[in-house]
Amino acid sequence: MIYLLGGSGYVGHAYQALLTRKGIPFRNLRRAEVDYTNRDVLRTALLRDRPAFLINAAGYTGKPNVDACELHKHACLFGNAVLPGIIADACADAGVPWGHVSSGCIYTGSRPDGRGFTETDTPNFTFRTNNCSFYSGTKALGEEVLAGKPDVYIWRLRIPFDHVDNPRNFLTKLIRYQRLLEATNSISHLEEFCAATFACWEKRVPFGLYNVTNPGQITTREVVDLIRESGVANKEFSFFKDEAEFMSLAAKTPRSNCTMDSSKLARVGITMTEVRTSIRQALRHWQKAAA
Ligand SMILES: NC(=O)c1ccc[n+]([C@@H]2O[C@H](COP(=O)([O-])OP(=O)(O)OC[C@H]3O[C@@H](n4cnc5c(N)ncnc54)[C@H](OP(=O)(O)O)[C@@H]3O)[C@@H](O)[C@H]2O)c1
Repeated sequence: MIYLLGGSGYVGHAYQALLTRKGIPFRNLRRAEVDYTNRDVLRTALLRDRPAFLINAAGYTGKPNVDACELHKHACLFGNAVLPGIIADACADAGVPWGHVSSGCIYTGSRPDGRGFTETDTPNFTFRTNNCSFYSGTKALGEEVLAGKPDVYIWRLRIPFDHVDNPRNFLTKLIRYQRLLEATNSISHLEEFCAATFACWEKRVPFGLYNVTNPGQITTREVVDLIRESGVANKEFSFFKDEAEFMSLAAKTPRSNCTMDSSKLARVGITMTEVRTSIRQALRHWQKAAA
């Protein structure tokens, strides 16, 4: 049996769907029922149920976007930086291996050689580099809290998208926002992310950090072209002149835009679809939300 924390959230729902599809028994813990943010409560539950593995998809993201984290710093710091340490302690006490959903938003840009960041590159969009949003800072701290701990996977998700129209879906955001910021990113198909991360456990690949993004990188304009080509939306897309205009008109805190290298994951035998192909597939099977 698998324990799932944060199963009620956007990413958590995708894990629930994966485990259900695979016929793997799991228990979705909700804070309202079992306060897994309390170390002793979580430890007691783990010792009682003895799950084979735990997935942590809980965290604080800010709604409708990361700007909200600037207003709710306490919840953000607790959910993203303190909670992973609590889970690590409880899992270590109970002898339960686990995986943590982190984020690629702890980087900005690309490596000096133009390639995507690898797991050995030090995050450069953090409180330490003093250039980040509060959200990114807390996600980087969460990774620092887990650094060197045994028996844990740290999986970096980056700008999730899939074929289901949803305000949290990157493709929906591009379709619905009035104006867009041109940027280059590596991004993650949500269903593929969940499947790839769970495969880490199924295949018993070495614990540690993994970038879990679809291979390659893509610009906002290229995604827009794919959206128009698919017929999912035919509107005229409008762009901010530059990041400075975006920051002055539409955002309270800087955004991470970065490219990532997911070849470590591929080297352990877990492959994801090339990014353009994955976006095309999502658009081909687009499920529009009810009006
Ligand atoms: N969505 C993205 O774009 C994205 C990108 C990269 C990484 N991530 C990471 O993926 C994880 C899940 O994100 P999500 O988008 O699924 O978030 P979400 O929809 O807000 O769901 C997060 C879940 O976490 C639980 N939770 C535990 N402590 C919390 C707290 N202090 N504040 C709010 N919720 C808390 C809640 O479940 P219960 O109350 O039921 O226990 C909630 O349903 C987070 O760690 C996030 O940083 C997300």
